Amino acid sequence: MPAVVTSHGGHMPEHDGKITFYVILCVIISAFGGLLFGYDIGISGGVTAMDDFLIKFFPDVYEKKKRAHEDNYCKYDNEYLQLFTSSLYIAALVASFVASKVCSKFGRRTTLQIGSFFFVAGVALQAGGVNLTMVVFGRIILGCGVGFGNQAVPLFLSELAPARIRGALNICFQLFITIGILIAGIINYFTSNIHPHGWRISLGLAGVPAVILLVGSFAICETPTSLIERDQIDQGKATLRRIRGTDNIAAEFDSIVIASDAARRVKNPFRKLMRASSRPPLVIAIVLQVFQQFTGINAIMFYAPVLFQTVGFGNNAALLSTVITGLVNVFSTLVSIYTVDKAGRRMLLLEACVQMFITQTVIGLLLLLHLKPAGSLSSTEAIVVVVLVCVYVMGFAWSWGPLGWLIPSETFPLETRTAGFACAVSSNMLCTFIIAQAFLSMMCHMKAGIFFFFAAWILVMGLFTLFLLPETKGVPVDSMVDRVWKQHWFWKRYMIDDENDDDNVIKG
Ligand code: BGC
Repeated sequence: MPAVVTSHGGHMPEHDGKITFYVILCVIISAFGGLLFGYDIGISGGVTAMDDFLIKFFPDVYEKKKRAHEDNYCKYDNEYLQLFTSSLYIAALVASFVASKVCSKFGRRTTLQIGSFFFVAGVALQAGGVNLTMVVFGRIILGCGVGFGNQAVPLFLSELAPARIRGALNICFQLFITIGILIAGIINYFTSNIHPHGWRISLGLAGVPAVILLVGSFAICETPTSLIERDQIDQGKATLRRIRGTDNIAAEFDSIVIASDAARRVKNPFRKLMRASSRPPLVIAIVLQVFQQFTGINAIMFYAPVLFQTVGFGNNAALLSTVITGLVNVFSTLVSIYTVDKAGRRMLLLEACVQMFITQTVIGLLLLLHLKPAGSLSSTEAIVVVVLVCVYVMGFAWSWGPLGWLIPSETFPLETRTAGFACAVSSNMLCTFIIAQAFLSMMCHMKAGIFFFFAAWILVMGLFTLFLLPETKGVPVDSMVDRVWKQHWFWKRYMIDDENDDDNVIKG
């Protein structure tokens, strides 16, 4: 068995453990947090395009839309609507910092429970909305749900999973995000023809997964890491035994205890995060989120119907194409679940960069040459665009989508894990907000150039992955410092011991 070098210089064997039914149950229930996030991503584009919704809450926008006679690339540019869509992400950004505190003080499970309360309340406010304040308030509460859910679920999954299949289990979060996006696309397809309350059905149906998550969160366990970190040693040991389905847990238990001891010595995790030794996982966590969003994925996820209308599809065909990209998104995520612990993280990310770079560039060229501000693409050209979008989504779905969440959840040492992951979640939300807010205006100003803009980002992220992203496949979460960061040609220079720094440790 390969050995793990502990931070104390000792050696311990690689951890044992089965994939128990209970772990699978916990994975499925917690992944509903991802489903709700995905549903919110997928539902808003369709809802804000529904006339009934606009007439009720944004009458000015509706009037303008009726009168609008703008060119192909500028059809839907409207700041207020974009602000409505993106307000959720600002709320999530702020909430993730609160959630990080809750996560380390009260555990991953409690954080998820609070998140699911927010989800239920937010859905009720939105679906029952009688005025704009109520709907916007509902959206902000939903954002708090996303902040809490996205903080708790990936950490929960990474700590719950045995190291050898951690990637696969963690990616269930992303799988459920994609299922949420797909379900939202299908629901919008039907409700767009239900007048005048189709939008209420679209928003209200999120209540189903929200209630499942709320009820289910009482059936899942807390992670052993979080229990042990909070001094519930016996309970932590018993939970570890239960989820691993074996009594042979001594090695894993010891490594968690060592990590927890180090974590308890840190008084202020956010200050510790500013230290040189935290830089490698922190930079990687933030940069991965920025990169994930600047692949341009949400330009597609939020605005696919708009995009497909831009290239010349009618309303229904555009919604249908959205469902097709949604299906591609779900099935390609399965590829990632299958390969991530075999081929590794780097291979998937690099391959996808090539795939996404080519597709974005070709879409850009096609639109540049054939889509003028007036008129539309030929039907063959429009179909080629849909196929290219699918190939692009495929690449994202087995790489930057899932790994953007997986890698930051597995690379921080326990003492900075929740704080560091909060930085990842909030960077993701900030960049999602920027894209949601700016994409339609960018498309209006940059026209086909927007695709070259994203392609350029993809090139940069490929180079970053090639030179600076270490492989974390199969390394136990609580052994990353020694086995990954201290071994990396570049990042090892930051791994200076600052354990005795007065700012960071509780004296005595
Ligand atoms: C991203 C979302 C994106 C989704 C698409 C997630 O990993 O965080 O912003 O919409 O993937 O499947």
